[in-house]
Amino acid sequence: MLDTVVSLAKRRGFVFPGSEIYGGLSGTWDYGPLGVLMKENIKREWWRHMLGEPHIYPLDAAILMSSKAWEASGHVEHFSDPLVDCKKCKHRFRADELSDQKKCPDCGGELTSARQFNMMFKTHAGPVEDSSSAVYLRPETAQGVFVNFKNVVDSFHPTLPFGIAQIGKAFRNEITPKSFVFRCREFEQMELEYFAHPDKIDGYFRDIREMRMKWFLGLGMKQENIRFYDYPISELAHYSKATTDIQYRYGLSADGFSELEGIANRGDFDLTNHSRASGQELKLDGIIPHVIEPSVGLDRAFLAFFMDAYHEDELGGDKRVLLRLHPKLAPIKAAVFPLVSNKEHIVARANEIFRALKKEFTAVMWDDIGNIGKRYRRQDEIGTPWCITIDYQTLEDGTVTIRDRDSGKQERYPENTIRDYIVKQLL
Ligand code: GAP
Repeated sequence: MLDTVVSLAKRRGFVFPGSEIYGGLSGTWDYGPLGVLMKENIKREWWRHMLGEPHIYPLDAAILMSSKAWEASGHVEHFSDPLVDCKKCKHRFRADELSDQKKCPDCGGELTSARQFNMMFKTHAGPVEDSSSAVYLRPETAQGVFVNFKNVVDSFHPTLPFGIAQIGKAFRNEITPKSFVFRCREFEQMELEYFAHPDKIDGYFRDIREMRMKWFLGLGMKQENIRFYDYPISELAHYSKATTDIQYRYGLSADGFSELEGIANRGDFDLTNHSRASGQELKLDGIIPHVIEPSVGLDRAFLAFFMDAYHEDELGGDKRVLLRLHPKLAPIKAAVFPLVSNKEHIVARANEIFRALKKEFTAVMWDDIGNIGKRYRRQDEIGTPWCITIDYQTLEDGTVTIRDRDSGKQERYPENTIRDYIVKQLL
């Protein structure tokens, strides 16, 4: 399944391998035109979901942060994976992913013992490369929120509970990037830090868990492909008091399910540590608030929505591939076709309709190549919900056909109702 999705994503301009003409750069992927549009749609829906709740503030912190922040957060000391090398072929592995920790899975050679490998990318700010200029590319967006807690409080004077939400790039020097955009070295995160009184935190944890699951289901994700996974205490991250993952059935693990989003109760770990390290008081309503954090990888969300939407079926005796994306997530909302490309009046009328819709919705495509059946197939494959055809009858009575992606059904509508038809289904 993953191979099919990777090849469709590349062929139709959703996602390309990073630096491909130079042989690629492992763990990086470039989003093509349709990938950008779909990712933007996911981000917009996430912002609408977050900012639709009371007392949530958006933030866009810098990717480069003072090294002191990463020391205080525990990342310099703890953000590592166990690394082993093969003494013979020199390949490297994550020790916790190997079934036999002594033998190389590639050549059978002997493996070194495991050592901790810090996953943060380190670089230098300014022209001098010494330890005082060392900075890290952030491995999570969350710390940008904690270091701005005081700024938001001072500017907006919220009371508890309130939240700060952020979308942005994160970087991890993964030992084994793999499975397409599921695990990369550069990716995007969408994170909310929700600050609340410790006495009420368990209730907010439950509410946010439910709210996040509803978001995925509301955007069309199939119930049977998504589930909660509650971590046993022994598996919790260094900052967490309780964590539930929302897992998606990517088909990459023994039972098929892997992490799509993590929802963590971070307690007062971060604010306490930043307060101690910076000497600033990070309190509100007289206490250091506790934090619930739903954190989802945008790339993992993209992959889950893409896989979930992928279908092969038969329509009118023809096999077809279609992406049954929710119209809100579909990169192209509508495609406009002149029935024939050599009849001036039909092309001109189609062009007028195309331009008007393009101004309104931007994500509208024109296609006049090949027969109508082939044009429908091309749009089905990229998930376009509606194809609008302008034909001879349009010139007579001003109606067009609108064809529905999933059912393949075509119905005639007056051309001045197309806009409302689309708007109604995007609400
Ligand atoms: N602030 C908490 C945090 O960063 P995490 O579980 O390490 O927690 C959160 O990451 C989410 O970020 C994951 O659920 C996953 O969706 C995404 N993510 C993490 N590492 C990733 C990677 N290497 N490639 C793509 N997405 C990743």
